[in-house]
Amino acid sequence: MKSTGLLISIFLFTGIWTSSALADPSGPGDFTSSRFSKSGLCSNCHGSSFGEWDGSMHSNADSDFFYQAMLQEYGVAAEAQGLPPEFCSRCHTPIGMVSAEIPPLDGSNLSEVAKEGVQCDFCHSIAESEGIGNAPYVLEPGDVKWGSRKDSESPSHEIEAHEFYNESAYCGMCHNIYHPANNLTLAATYTEWEESPYAEEGVNCQACHMTPGIVGFEENPGKAASTGPERTHVYTHYFVGANAFVTGIMGEGRHEKKAIEYLQHAASLEVTAPDSAEPGENVEVAVKIKNTGAGHKIPTGVTEDREMWLELTALDAEGKEIYHSGGLDSEGNIDPEATVYHTVFADSEGNPTVKVWEAESIISDNRIGPRSSVIEKHSFSMPQNAPNPISVKAILHYRSASQEHIDELFGEGVYSVPVIDMAAYPEEEKASTPGFGTTGTLIALTLGSFYKRRRKRPTYISGI
Ligand code: HEC
Ligand code: HEC
Ligand code: HEC
Ligand code: HEC
Ligand code: HEC
Repeated sequence: MKSTGLLISIFLFTGIWTSSALADPSGPGDFTSSRFSKSGLCSNCHGSSFGEWDGSMHSNADSDFFYQAMLQEYGVAAEAQGLPPEFCSRCHTPIGMVSAEIPPLDGSNLSEVAKEGVQCDFCHSIAESEGIGNAPYVLEPGDVKWGSRKDSESPSHEIEAHEFYNESAYCGMCHNIYHPANNLTLAATYTEWEESPYAEEGVNCQACHMTPGIVGFEENPGKAASTGPERTHVYTHYFVGANAFVTGIMGEGRHEKKAIEYLQHAASLEVTAPDSAEPGENVEVAVKIKNTGAGHKIPTGVTEDREMWLELTALDAEGKEIYHSGGLDSEGNIDPEATVYHTVFADSEGNPTVKVWEAESIISDNRIGPRSSVIEKHSFSMPQNAPNPISVKAILHYRSASQEHIDELFGEGVYSVPVIDMAAYPEEEKASTPGFGTTGTLIALTLGSFYKRRRKRPTYISGI
C-alpha cells in the first residue's frame, strides 16, 4: 500500500512537471493587453532600470522605422505566400501578438502598452520557455514578476525566482530566428555563443549586455528598486549591441554612444608588411582581423543587413595614394573589391536577398567567430620614385545596413547610415581602448597615420 502511494505521488509529480514543461508557447489571443502594465508604472520604483531600457533597441523593437518598413513588405509577401502574419511581432511586438491586436500589421489596432515593444512587464511575466528560437515564451502576466534573485521582496508585487533569467537561454528565445516555413536559420546569436569558449567559461549574454563590462561581467553596485536594499550588483537594462543607426535617430544619443563603445571593444587588427620594397616589386600586406570581445560572431543577429569590412590604404610620403581598398563611393557603396563580412541569403531562384522571408538557402557566411580571426591579403606594385616612407593603414568598419538598402526603403537622402570605426591599425590617438598592440614599424613602408585627415566622407563616426 505504502509503496503504491509513493509510486502514485511520483507519477503525479512527474505528470505535473511534464505537463508544465510541455506547455504551449503563448499565442495569438491568449491575453488581452490590459493584463500588462506600462513601463512607466514600474519606473516609479525601478527608475534606473527604466532609464536604461528607455531608448534601447528593446524599447524601439516595435517602433523602429527600419523594422516597420521591412514588416510592411513582409505583410504583403505573407499574404501571398500564406505565411503567419504575426511571425515578426512575436519578437518585436510581443504584447500585440498575444493580445491579437496584430494583425493588422499597420499597427492601427495596437494599444499603447504593446507599442512599447520588448518591455518590462512582458519580459518579467515570462514564466517559462519551450526552447531556443522563434520566441517560445510561456507568459503568466499578473501579480507575479519573475526575476533571478532569490532574496528579493516587494510591497507592490509578488516575486518568483527562475534561474533562466540569468542564463543565455532566456535571450536565446528571440536571438535565434528560423524561417517560419522552411526552417532555414536566419539568425543564430545564441547558437554562436553556445558553441564559443564563453559558454564554457560561464560568460553569458547578461554578463556583457546587462553589466557595464562589455566584454565580460562587471559589478554594478546600487539599488534594484528605490525602496529596496543596497545591492553589491544590480543588472543593467541598456541592452546595447551594435545599433548606432536607429538609436542615433530615435534616441537621445545615450544608446548610440554605447553601441559605438561596444563595437570598439569587439575586434583588433594586426598588419604585417615588408620593411622595404624595390620600385616595381609586388608588396604583400596581410591584415589579421580578430574577434577579441564579442561572445558570438561579428557581426551577429540580422546579418543579411549588417556590414563589416576592412579599408586599407597605402600612401607615399607626400600623401599620394598608392593603394586603396574598401572605400565608399559617392553613393555610399562599398568598393566591390572589398570583402564584406556578413551573411548572404538566396531566394528560390538563387538570387541574393535581404528579405529573409524569401530566403531558401545561404550563399555565403564569412563572419568571424568568437576569439577567432581571419587574414586578409592585399597586394600592390611599388611605384617608381615614390618618396619615402610609404605608410600603410587599416581600419575595420561596421554599419547596420547598406546605404543602398536604406535608400531603397526610404528614398535617397532620407537616412544616412553611420559607418563606425571598430578598430584601426596602427591605433595612434587611441590610448584609451585596451587590447591592441603596435608592432612592426617599417623603414621604407610604415604603418602610418596621416590618412584620417584626408577622409571626406560625411557619415563617418570615428572616435578612434
Ligand atoms: C511600489 C514599488 C514597485 C513597483 C511599482 C514595482 N516594483 Fe518591482 N520591486 C520592488 C521592490 C522593492 C523590489 C525588491 C528589490 C530588491 O530586493 O532589491 C522589486 C523587485 C522586482 C523584481 C525582482 C528582481 C529579481 O532579480 O528577482 C522584478 C523582476 C520586478 N521588481 C519587476 C517589476 C516590474 C516589471 C514592475 C512594473 C510592472 C515593477 N517591478 C513595479 C518595488 C516595485
Ligand atoms: C528583454 C527582457 C527584459 C526587459 C525588457 C526588462 N528586463 Fe528586467 N531583467 C531581465 C533579466 C533577464 C534580468 C535578470 C538578469 C540576471 O539575473 O542575469 C532582469 C533583472 C531585473 C531586475 C533585477 C535587477 C537586479 O540585479 O536585482 C529588475 C528590478 C528589473 N529587471 C526590472 C525591469 C524593469 C523595471 C524593466 C523595464 C524598464 C525591465 N526590467 C525590462 C529582462 C528584462
Ligand atoms: C521577446 C524577444 C526578446 C528577448 C527575450 C530578448 N530580446 Fe534582445 N532584442 C529583441 C528584438 C526584437 C531586438 C531588435 C529590435 C530592433 O532592432 O528593432 C533585440 C535587440 C537586442 C539588442 C540590440 C542589438 C543591436 O543591434 O544593437 C541587444 C544587445 C539584445 N537584444 C540583447 C538581449 C539580451 C542580452 C537578452 C536576454 C537577457 C535579450 N536581448 C532578450 C528581442 C528579444
Ligand atoms: C563576451 C561578451 C559578449 C557576450 C557573452 C555576448 N555578447 Fe553580444 N555583443 C558583444 C559585443 C562587444 C558586441 C558589439 C560587436 C558586435 O556587433 O558583435 C555585441 C553585439 C551584439 C548584438 C548586435 C549585433 C549586430 O551586429 O547587430 C546582439 C544582438 C547581441 N550582441 C546579442 C547577444 C546575445 C543574445 C548574447 C548571448 C547569446 C550575447 N550577445 C553574448 C559582447 C558580447
Ligand atoms: C525570433 C525573434 C524574431 C523574429 C521572429 C523576427 N525578428 Fe527581427 N530581430 C530580432 C532580433 C533579436 C533583432 C536584433 C538582432 C541584431 O541586432 O542584429 C532583430 C532585428 C531586426 C531588424 C533590424 C532592425 C535595425 O534597427 O537594425 C529588422 C529590419 C527586422 N528584425 C525585421 C524583422 C522582420 C520583417 C521579421 C518578420 C519577417 C522579423 N524581424 C522577425 C528578432 C526577431
